Amino acid sequence: TILDNGSFTWKAPSNIALVKYWGKREPQLPENPSISFTLDACHTETTLEFKKREKSAEISKLESDATFAQSLTQKEFKIDIFLDGENKPEFRKKIVVFLMRIGKLVPFISDYDFVIRTHNSFPHSSGIASSASGMSALALCIMSMEKALNPDISDEMFYKKASFLARLGSGSAARSIEGPLVVWGKHNAIKNSSDLFGVKFTGDLHDKFKNYHDTILLVDKGEKQVSSTVGHNLMNNHPFAQQRFEQANENIIKISEALKTGNLKTFISIVESEALTLHSMMMTSHPYFILMKPNTLEIINRIWAFREETNTNICFTLDAGANVHVLFPDEEKETCNLFIMNELIQFCQNNHYICDKVGFGANQI
Ligand code: PMV
Repeated sequence: TILDNGSFTWKAPSNIALVKYWGKREPQLPENPSISFTLDACHTETTLEFKKREKSAEISKLESDATFAQSLTQKEFKIDIFLDGENKPEFRKKIVVFLMRIGKLVPFISDYDFVIRTHNSFPHSSGIASSASGMSALALCIMSMEKALNPDISDEMFYKKASFLARLGSGSAARSIEGPLVVWGKHNAIKNSSDLFGVKFTGDLHDKFKNYHDTILLVDKGEKQVSSTVGHNLMNNHPFAQQRFEQANENIIKISEALKTGNLKTFISIVESEALTLHSMMMTSHPYFILMKPNTLEIINRIWAFREETNTNICFTLDAGANVHVLFPDEEKETCNLFIMNELIQFCQNNHYICDKVGFGANQI
């Protein structure tokens, strides 16, 4: 098959880790396994337009003995990136680095010029990272090119390789291909798990976790204080790193059990502890950071008080920032939504929040 020009569009979700990935080694491999809920409302939609390059004799000659990286740095290799219709040359470098990293796995990409058109369902400056959904959407578009060139590729291989490619763009993006729960990182108790790509959590998920809600409270929409690259590097030579990696391995076993048996108490204690541990790692590294804001703590304290008072199963988790993800089961949505609206929204920047829930993975459009 000759793929001269055309386009593919994929919509890929964001995800929220329950057991956190924090600490990595080259090439973008996790120091510990992590597990996440795939989200539904928060997503990126990306169209990859491709056009086979007319090669000048000069370039053909160059490519015959040049490495992939060299051909990428040629002026002839064109990538234009549009976010919500606006040209974003500042994103180009990140994308070129990504394409160079995956070049050996999908060598055909060096023959094409690209236009990438992307849109996030959540506001750009919301403090919600778009790297997981963005990188997985792009990886899936590239896999659609591969599938067009090699129709024999199985669905299983298609998604595995998409996750593999996405991982090389942003580690947590490996968990943004499928749903409702994805494990990334080798763990003996999780069948087929790998450091190289995410796998669907295969145990029978208890009914209590179906349609689980995640209301994201946007406490601080500012630029991230610590980029995740800097953050992961803080785990090198961190005094508590080894204990942390061991703890994450244990928590994967405990949470897997809770997800199967529907033990919400265990689920909550692991999820909240993981969030606070992630932040503790940042507070105890050098340099050290406090990424929570006073309103983050207000929200956490109110969630604890409400849970105690009402015996509901509302709980929180955090990403590497001040925003709070409020998690609760579908059967408690009326009570929890009322509480969130009446008591928690006041702590959000401009009262801004996003109602999301567990989703089922990416879709081709
Ligand atoms: O995918 P990265 O490199 O942006 O790392 C993300 C790490 C956390 O979001 C803080 C935790 C996680 O497991 O998603």
